Amino acid sequence: MCGIIGYTGKEAALPLILGGLERLEYRGYDSAGIALIEDGKLIVEKRVGKIRELVKNLWGKPYRGKTGIGHTRWATHGEPSQENAHPHTDSKNEFAVVHNGIVENYLELKRELESEGVTFRSGTDTEVIAHLIARAYKGDLLEAVLDIVGRLKGAFAFAVITVHEPMRVVGVKQGSPLVVGIGEGENFLASDIPAILPYTRSIITLNDGEIADITPEGVNIYDFNGNPVTKEIVIVPWDIISAEKSGFKHFMLKEIYEQPKAVGDTIRGLMSSGEEPPFSLKSFRRILIIACGTSYHAGLVGKFWIEKLAGVPTEVVYASEFRYGDFPVGEEDLIIGVSQSGETIDTKFAVNFARERGARTLSIVNVVGSSIDRESDYTLHTHAGPEIGVAATKTFTAQLAALYFLASTEHPDRYKLLEELFKVPARIERTLEKSEAIEKLADRYMNRRDFLYLGRYLSYPIALEGALKLKEISYIHAEGYPAGEMKHGPIALIDEKMPVVVLAPQDRVYDKTLANIEEVKTRKGKVIGVGFEGDDKLEKLCNEFIGVPPIEEDFTPFLTVVPLQLLAYHIASKLGLDVDQPRNLAKTVTVE
Ligand code: F6R
Repeated sequence: MCGIIGYTGKEAALPLILGGLERLEYRGYDSAGIALIEDGKLIVEKRVGKIRELVKNLWGKPYRGKTGIGHTRWATHGEPSQENAHPHTDSKNEFAVVHNGIVENYLELKRELESEGVTFRSGTDTEVIAHLIARAYKGDLLEAVLDIVGRLKGAFAFAVITVHEPMRVVGVKQGSPLVVGIGEGENFLASDIPAILPYTRSIITLNDGEIADITPEGVNIYDFNGNPVTKEIVIVPWDIISAEKSGFKHFMLKEIYEQPKAVGDTIRGLMSSGEEPPFSLKSFRRILIIACGTSYHAGLVGKFWIEKLAGVPTEVVYASEFRYGDFPVGEEDLIIGVSQSGETIDTKFAVNFARERGARTLSIVNVVGSSIDRESDYTLHTHAGPEIGVAATKTFTAQLAALYFLASTEHPDRYKLLEELFKVPARIERTLEKSEAIEKLADRYMNRRDFLYLGRYLSYPIALEGALKLKEISYIHAEGYPAGEMKHGPIALIDEKMPVVVLAPQDRVYDKTLANIEEVKTRKGKVIGVGFEGDDKLEKLCNEFIGVPPIEEDFTPFLTVVPLQLLAYHIASKLGLDVDQPRNLAKTVTVE
C-alpha cells in the first residue's frame, strides 16, 4: 500500500508532487521517488527512507518539468531499496510508472517479457507495467494502457507518463484508490483527496475499471474497453487547516483532542442528514460486523449494543478471516463493514463477497466517496474529519457513535438514548483533562517491556484497543484479554514487573473485575486501574488510578479508551518514537 500522485499543468511539477507526497506519506514511507519530463527526457529520482530523504537529495536541482508522477512506498514485493523504489521505467527510460497495490500475475508477465529479451532492474511487480506499456506503445499513451490493462490481475492503481507525450498523465484504478483533481490549466491524480486539497477541491472519484487521461486542458475518463464514462465533479468540503497540526506536537495527540468534536459531529451529522438505514435490523436473522484492527474493536463494542438494543444476534469477524472461511451468508444476513478509510482491501473484498451471496450491506466509513462507501448498499458516515496519525483514535470513537446510533434505531426509547449519547462529547472533554497525570504515569512505566490490558463486557474491546495502541506506536509488547479469561493462562505472566491495565467502570461486571484485580495484586502485578472518578474502593485497590467522569454503562467505552490512547501516546512520545508514522505501518491498508 503506497501513495501515488500525478500532475500536468502550467506550474513546475516537482514542488506540487513533493507537497502531495508529504500528505500521502501516511500510506507508506519505506522509500519515495518522482519522475518528471523535462526537455524531452525522463528524470527519475528516488531514495530509500522517508520523503525528507528524497527532498534532501533534490536540493540544488531546480527541475522545471511540468508533468510528473510521485510515489511513497510501503513495500510488498521487493524489500525497501533504491532499485525497488518507484517510479519504475522501461528499458529505454521513455515510460515511468508509479503503482499502488499488487499485480498478482507479475511473475508470469515477467517471464514473458524476459523471454523477449527485457532485463529487469528491480524485484517489484510494478516494473512489468512499464515494460508492457512500452511494448504496446504506438504513439498514443491511452491506447497503450488500454491495450495492456486487461492482462494485469490483482488490485492496483497506477499512473504513467512518457517522454513521447510530455503533457499527459494516464491513471488506472482497479481495486486500489485513485482520484482526479481538476484545476485551472492543470490537473492531478492522487491516491486520496487530502494529497491535492491545497491545489483543488474539485474532485472526480474513479471507480474500479476506469482510466483517467489527464492533460493541462482537460480530463477524460474511460472504461477498460475505451468507452468514455461521464463522471460527476464533487466539491470537497474538507478544510486543509484541519489536516495540519494546529500547535500539537503530533497529529495523533491533536486527533485524540478532537474526539469530542468528532463524536458530536458524527451524532449531529447522522441525525440531521436523516441517514437512517432503509431496513429494519430486526428483519435479519443475523448481523455480521466485518472490519480490521481498531475498526474491528469498534465492531466488538457495537455487537454488545446491537444485541442489547435491537436483540439481533451479532458476530464480529476479522475481514481477512471472513473471506477465506466458509461462513454461510445469504439474504437473511446484514453485513456491516466498518472502516475509517473505506479502502481497506480485506474489508472491501469481504463486504463485496457477502453482497454477491445475497446479503444486505451497510458500511460505516469516514471517507465519503471511498470504495467501501460506494460499493455498499447503504452507508452511515462518521464525521471525524481527516485522520492523519497512523494510529486510529478519533475515527474509533466516531465509529462507536455511529454504531450506537444504528443499534438504537428501533428502540422504543430511542430519543432518550440519543439524548444520553449527546452527553458523551462533554465527558470526553473532561477525560482529556487527565492528560498531564497520564504523562507522569508514562514516565514511570515507559521502560517496561510487556503490558497486559484487561476488561470485561464493553471494556473487553477497549482492553484490546488499548493494547493495540501501545504496541503499534511504542513497540512495547502488549496483550488485551477478557479479564475473566486471565486465570485460564495469562495469569502465569504476572509478576512484579508486569503492569496490568484494568478497565473497571461501575458497570454490570464491576464486582467481577475487582476480583480480577485482587488476583493480579496477589501475584504482585502492578495495577493501573481505569474507572469512575470518586471510586475510592477501586483507587485503593490499584497501584495507579485514572478516573473518568461517571457515565451510563453503555457509554463507558467512549471514555475509558481515551486514557489508554493518551498512555500509549505519551509513552511513545517520551521514547522519542515517530508517533504519527510508526515503523512497518501505513494508514490505509490496500493489500491483502
Ligand atoms: C490501528 C489502526 C489499524 C486500522 C485498520 C483498519 O490504530 O489504525 O488497525 O484500524 O488498518 O483500517 P480502516 O478502519 O481504515 O479499515
